[in-house]
Amino acid sequence: MASKELIDSLNEALARELQVCIQYMWQHVMVKGPYADEFSNAFRRIALQEMIHAELIGERVDYLGGIPATVPAEITIGGDATQMLQVDRKAEEEAIEMYRRIIEMAEAEKDYTTKRLFEQILADEEDHHNTFRTLLGE
Ligand SMILES: [Fe+2]
Ligand SMILES: [Fe+2]
Repeated sequence: MASKELIDSLNEALARELQVCIQYMWQHVMVKGPYADEFSNAFRRIALQEMIHAELIGERVDYLGGIPATVPAEITIGGDATQMLQVDRKAEEEAIEMYRRIIEMAEAEKDYTTKRLFEQILADEEDHHNTFRTLLGE
């Protein structure tokens, strides 16, 4: 079965998913400015995807014998629209780095299902990263 280290890492990932799910949803509600409509739609769409990620990781933690995390990592809403997007781009960069490590860890433990799950989620996070970068005009 999975090591404690792997289960703890999945729970760290889950706490981050809960964080960004709330963070992006409240940015969706709070964002102001000339591009608010477009930003707001993107925040909401991505928040809902993060909730699916949380569900999938929680199911995996349970299957592996752990208890799914209930406390989100620290939520940062940001100030104006640009600050929100910058905070979110950084969150996605951190997720990408963390999920690469989890994929390597899962492979080392021959946990191919967790590896495949995180490969799928990693692709979504790269897509989110790209969306925030594009909205920042980069
Ligand atoms: Fe996610
Ligand atoms: Fe994401």
